[in-house]
Amino acid sequence: MELDLRRDRRRSFLDHARSLVMGSLADKEPRHAVRLRMAHDLVPDTWEQGPAYERYVGRWSRRVAPRFLEWLRVPGDLRWLDVGCGTGALCAAILDTCAPASVDGVEPSEGFLEAAVTALGSRVTFHRADASALPFDDASMDVVVSGLVLNFVPDLDAVLAEMSRVAVDGGVVAAYVWDYAERMELMTWFWRVATDLDPAARALDEGRRFHDFTPEALAWRFASAGLVDVEEGSVEVATRFADFDDYWRPFLGGQGVAPAYAMSLDEPARDRLRERLRTTLPTGRDGSIDLVARAWTVRGLVNR
Ligand SMILES: C[S@@+](CC[C@H](N)C(=O)[O-])C[C@H]1O[C@@H](n2cnc3c(N)ncnc32)[C@H](O)[C@@H]1O
Repeated sequence: MELDLRRDRRRSFLDHARSLVMGSLADKEPRHAVRLRMAHDLVPDTWEQGPAYERYVGRWSRRVAPRFLEWLRVPGDLRWLDVGCGTGALCAAILDTCAPASVDGVEPSEGFLEAAVTALGSRVTFHRADASALPFDDASMDVVVSGLVLNFVPDLDAVLAEMSRVAVDGGVVAAYVWDYAERMELMTWFWRVATDLDPAARALDEGRRFHDFTPEALAWRFASAGLVDVEEGSVEVATRFADFDDYWRPFLGGQGVAPAYAMSLDEPARDRLRERLRTTLPTGRDGSIDLVARAWTVRGLVNR
């Protein structure tokens, strides 16, 4: 009985995902007018538990955040806002490397905010809010950033309009998203194996769903939002796993799309996935697994 329920829940999760992806694939526009696919409805509510997120992708997000800030090159003593701050990876990097006048973080998930507050306390002012309705006055921030969030928001135009609204004239609006299609390798390997074993999982594969989030498309979106001097780029970090367990265990925390899929499987299917990954991942003689994670970056200036 319990197994049936689990199977039904999984079937409806996949059916729902498939129908949304098929719908969005049908209305493609020409290259520079690429509509970035808004897939938040595909993602079950998996932004809940800070510690499990940290073990899965937070540990890599913490490495990529300082690289993004290096790329951004802004001076000190500015007012920063981090949109979708999660457990606080980017806020922490701003504090460590940018000598900010102030840092505010906005995040809808209570669990993630709790982790962020525990880590950063009063050094950052946190707000529970959605990116499309930022709780700030017009022109009240100098730099408005967002890390690994824009592919998840339901209305990117509304979010970019909000990020621009709260920034001063001449202020910086900038973001980064994982290169899910190619070089966010811990996920690309996962989906390659998962979809081989279970073709229905293709509907959830982040590489497929977010492949439109190219640097060109992001830059086009920023320019369409009225930002000027738009630049795109990339940053890459090494993601080294000490052994297969170090790679696999974080998926069992259920935070994020791939872990949610792994946990939606019944035990025999999850065991098959684990064992196929174990024999497929490129593994060194000492058992370590060396992968990379690339993020696309984009920045623009507010011009009123
Ligand atoms: C992959 S996590 C990134 C978290 C953090 N920025 C980091 O770099 O580790 C995605 C984050 O986007 C947040 N998010 C999703 N939809 C959002 C929305 N509509 N408004 C604000 N944040 C959102 C989630 O709650 C989650 O914290």
